[in-house]
Amino acid sequence: MTVAAIMTLDKIHAGIPLYQQIANHLILHIRRGTLPKGYRLPGSRQLAKQLGVQRGTVNAAYDELVIQGWVKAMPRSGFFVRNNLPDVSPQHWRQEDTEALPYPEKTAYGLQQMDHLQLPLIKGLPGLAFNDGFPDLRLAPVQALGSHLRSIMLKPVYRRLLSYGNVEGNDALRVELSQYLNETRGLNTTPAHIFITRGSQMGIFLLAQTILRPGDNVIVGQTNYHVANASFVHAGANLFRVPVDKQGIDVDAIAQLCAQQPVRAVYVTSHHHYPTTVTLGADRRINLLALARKYGFAIIEDDYHYDFHYDSNPILPLASADTDGHVAYIGSFSKCIAPAFRVGYIVAPPNLLQVMGRLRRIIDRQGDSLLEQAVADLLKEGEIQRHLKKVRKIYQDRRDAFCRRLHDVLGDAVVFDPPAGGLAVWAGFDPAISLPRVAARASKSGLYVSDGTVYNPPGINLNSARLGFAALAPEEMKQAIQILKESLQP
Ligand SMILES: Cc1ncc(COP(=O)(O)O)c(C=O)c1O
Repeated sequence: MTVAAIMTLDKIHAGIPLYQQIANHLILHIRRGTLPKGYRLPGSRQLAKQLGVQRGTVNAAYDELVIQGWVKAMPRSGFFVRNNLPDVSPQHWRQEDTEALPYPEKTAYGLQQMDHLQLPLIKGLPGLAFNDGFPDLRLAPVQALGSHLRSIMLKPVYRRLLSYGNVEGNDALRVELSQYLNETRGLNTTPAHIFITRGSQMGIFLLAQTILRPGDNVIVGQTNYHVANASFVHAGANLFRVPVDKQGIDVDAIAQLCAQQPVRAVYVTSHHHYPTTVTLGADRRINLLALARKYGFAIIEDDYHYDFHYDSNPILPLASADTDGHVAYIGSFSKCIAPAFRVGYIVAPPNLLQVMGRLRRIIDRQGDSLLEQAVADLLKEGEIQRHLKKVRKIYQDRRDAFCRRLHDVLGDAVVFDPPAGGLAVWAGFDPAISLPRVAARASKSGLYVSDGTVYNPPGINLNSARLGFAALAPEEMKQAIQILKESLQP
């Protein structure tokens, strides 16, 4: 077998220059041992002729091999595979060796399976969908964001943002956010209380890793945001699930648990509980904070849908009444701008943010400083505030239309309370109806509806799903509810 026979060159389509292809083939065979140490490569004139390429191309390939240290050039004798390469057991040429082996599909070593991370991935889908409570991307303020981002990239004054910056996030955004959160959520922060993340999810993860130690007890709602649960389990915590009713998480049940064992943290989605959308009652808020003071636990308050409230002024977050440093408050721009723009935040005492910053440094280093600057500018100019005002009205109309129609068309087959805020309705299906079957049927008719399993606590079938209404324009909404109705038929 000649050296030329071990090569298949792509002379027409290849994005890789011919000399590089030749060099790559030779390296592959030196690595495999089919071209052993000390092997004399054919003369460039001969190889060029066999391969049907210019002699200069082979010379360039040989030069490359010399530069990379695979081959040694011996004046007047030719090119030899270097003798000081690591030992590989020599192999014989085989026809199949002319192709590079594919990149492996599996590791050669075992992997920890991390079963608690095997969660369904809730995605935005094209076409008709009752999503999990996502905004209408057609309304996203991308024009404004894009033009700010573009001008930030072009202005010399912002060039420093192209470099490494703070682990806590863009300073301008911390300043703007502090003011914005103080105005809209009754907080009393300074920029030192603000830590910018790439979305709420990162906030939950960082807090879990920072606050929790393996073996710590964390209380969550019996049905809860499954990805938060996974974050706590990943940090080594034990989950204790307490009931959730129409007033939100059962704070008496939390008190009972605290009396029985140490509790390190309680996770709440206080404004609109996920997935049920209920708002945590005022008395329960007061009692929960009092319990945190009594037992010294942390409250992780995930306020993922705060911006969308319809019936009254929003209830202020627990964080607004926390003067002792119990609450770590999480928010994001995912629902207000769009989930693809990964900007979120944590509000907490600076000593916690400092520890979190050290952790962030080894995962992510920092966020997207340019994007964060653009969001800061949008806040400063009131663009985000105007956008929210506009979409709040649209989403409120959609909520009203959706709830009316859902009730009119589906009657008793579905039980729900119109949500006071947020972007989804929590719908309980008649126990005689199998939600997974409905989901499968709807899917055949082009409608995504959750099969509900993601919301089920272990061993309990709630037969319920979040029906996101905000991304459905009136006609789409009608169509979606009609398909849902047809999918309910026995
Ligand atoms: C309750 C809750 N928390 C956090 C998140 C994460 O959101 P993001 O990381 O996009 O801000 C979600 C996503 O939908 C959510 O439903």
